[in-house]
Amino acid sequence: MIWKMTFIAVIISFMTTVTYADGHKNVELLAASCAACHGTNGHSVGGTPSLAGSDKLHFMKQMDQFVDGSRPSTVMFHHASGYTADEIELLAEFFSKQNQ
Ligand code: HEC
Repeated sequence: MIWKMTFIAVIISFMTTVTYADGHKNVELLAASCAACHGTNGHSVGGTPSLAGSDKLHFMKQMDQFVDGSRPSTVMFHHASGYTADEIELLAEFFSKQNQ
């Protein structure tokens, strides 16, 4: 019995590690597609707003508004529309943690 529980505990901790590592890797991949315009890790070199250090809630709200059209945009409608709510939250978290 105790072995069974240890085994299950090991499997569970393994699963969480993998999920975390995956999420981390994915968000960097997702963020890389923003770099062309918003700079590496959101450090814009001009023309677009810097995303580095932006407030998580502000970020998510802007993305929502680009999608529903309540914030007019030139290109962001297309970029914001391609992500799930989870991915947008991951991106918001990622960019909010970058130094300004
Ligand atoms: C083709 C260039 C381009 C790409 C690629 C791009 N953006 Fe943008 N982004 C813009 C421009 C330009 C604006 C200003 C609003 C507009 O005109 O669309 C903007 C605005 C934003 C804003 C609002 C910032 C603020 O504080 O008001 C957010 C958030 C944002 N982008 C996130 C992203 C994310 C996340 C990605 C990648 C998934 C991304 N953008 C990819 C060009 C781009």
